[in-house]
Amino acid sequence: MYRLFFHLIFKRMDPEQAHHLAFRWIRLAASVPVLRTFVAAFLAPRHKALRTEALGLRMHGPFGLAAGFDKNAAAVDGMAMLGFDHVEIGTVTGRAQPGNPKKRLFRLVPDRALINRMGFNNEGSEAVAARLAARRAVFRTVVGVNIGKTKVVPEAEAASDYVLSTERLAPYADYLVVNVSSPNTPGLRNLQATESLRPLLTAVREAADRTVTDRRVPLLVKIAPDLADEDVDAVADLALELGLDGIIATNTTVAREGLGLRSAPELVKETGGLSGAPLKARSLEVLRRLYARVGDRLVLIGVGGIENAEDAWQRILAGATLIQGYSAFIYEGPCYARAIHRGLAERLAASPYATLAEAVGADTRKAGL
Ligand SMILES: Cc1cc2nc3c(=O)[nH]c(=O)nc-3n(C[C@H](O)[C@H](O)[C@H](O)COP(=O)(O)O)c2cc1C
Repeated sequence: MYRLFFHLIFKRMDPEQAHHLAFRWIRLAASVPVLRTFVAAFLAPRHKALRTEALGLRMHGPFGLAAGFDKNAAAVDGMAMLGFDHVEIGTVTGRAQPGNPKKRLFRLVPDRALINRMGFNNEGSEAVAARLAARRAVFRTVVGVNIGKTKVVPEAEAASDYVLSTERLAPYADYLVVNVSSPNTPGLRNLQATESLRPLLTAVREAADRTVTDRRVPLLVKIAPDLADEDVDAVADLALELGLDGIIATNTTVAREGLGLRSAPELVKETGGLSGAPLKARSLEVLRRLYARVGDRLVLIGVGGIENAEDAWQRILAGATLIQGYSAFIYEGPCYARAIHRGLAERLAASPYATLAEAVGADTRKAGL
């Protein structure tokens, strides 16, 4: 049904306009009490076996919405209504900014992929903090806050921009993510080098502790799939050294070669980050590598090309405690999270593992990695 709708309506629209339209519908549905209860009962049924505890937080399940869909925290309840067990808002930058000129979002339909060069279009940390402060939660869901650098702030002053966002947003964050991996802010990914990352993460940790004194806000870093394997290891070691809580793997890729892309060459060569199905293999590989390095000392969040329950299950077996999706939501529609939950519950029941927690990393451990 959604597929037909996608091909008849959304596919003919500009992708960013389609996003805004869908976003408005989600917000509208979530604002009508009877409707949202009805939708949530259908799309977000709870599976006891999937209950997850991670980062000191309790969740209905392991599957959440990846950053970038709800940049300004305007539809947290709407996304929870659609069955996402956590919602990562952002990326939010210190100051408001418009992002890159349009057109900046492209659908690669034959590849079930997207290319985006949005460039962190968002209302800025002050406005987003005010929205989160005013939020009266309808659905209990975990809210992650993903922060990044304002474009006009020079790379050398990046830490102060992340600190500003931290001071404003940490009070409303169930967990905080330092995003140093989006390809659309010049120089941002250089911050993944440990010499830059160490002082940045230290400054954000200190700012979070200074700002929120009645609990410890979990802190994670989100990395790119384009890092060399040794750099993935270096980030993992640094995360352990600094006492971070987790790593999100991965953001979008700037790679195009070797991914078997079938879309028109003029689309494939659009500048920006590629997400969706073609990212699956590399994201899984990075996740496995991380788990082999850190085991259960960090919470790993697997994201990149998760289209269905089998993909989600493979990430859990590889080492992810939590998983996220974005691009496949565009292609699969409102039943995306529901299908993942149902399939995960079936797979867990048919597996030798009594709980999801037991399954986390089982394949990577078995392989002796
Ligand atoms: C249009 C779009 C915008 C995105 N914006 C952000 C962002 O602001 N911050 C971020 O950390 N990741 C962002 N991402 C990356 C996603 O969070 C995710 O890491 C990536 O798309 C891989 O997952 P997927 O294959 O399920 O889409 C964005 C992705 C897309 C498609």
